[in-house]
Amino acid sequence: PTVFTHRVFSFLFAFVPVLLQVAWVRVDTQTILSIHHNVITQNPRISLTYNDHRSWYLHIREVEESDRGWYMCQVNTDPMRSRKGYLQVVVPPAIIEAMTSNDMVVREGTNVTLNCKAKGFPEPYVMWRREDGDEMAIGGENAKKTKIKT
Ligand SMILES: *[C@@H]1O[C@H](CO)[C@@H](O)[C@H](O)[C@H]1NC(C)=O
Repeated sequence: PTVFTHRVFSFLFAFVPVLLQVAWVRVDTQTILSIHHNVITQNPRISLTYNDHRSWYLHIREVEESDRGWYMCQVNTDPMRSRKGYLQVVVPPAIIEAMTSNDMVVREGTNVTLNCKAKGFPEPYVMWRREDGDEMAIGGENAKKTKIKT
């Protein structure tokens, strides 16, 4: 399953026949997270629950961007069966105040650069406009926009 979330309790689940053992794997890093009743990962935010051994839940508390990726549950049938799901973690856009310009005083005829640094996932789109609605010859003679990859 695909889960879109941020910093909330989240889980992935699998329904399997009774008496089969289930393992959870982080596909990207090839890390085993749990085998049957045991949590293997050292990550304290990860826990495991199951109902009547048919429903297996992998819980990730306080989801972080590093949790984004593919997860897989494996059932120990012969041959082994597995199912993968992508965990998407979105982060609301925000302006990084410390790296963003505020009030400035500049002398006429000099060049000035205003910075706006934003964070978030998906990558936020930053737009400049004048509060008084006046034209800003972006891309023209008087002003140019530079996007800096970080
Ligand atoms: C201002 O920027 C323009 C274009 O980048 C450059 O040609 C010019 O020398 C700069 N002027 C000053 C005063 O730094």
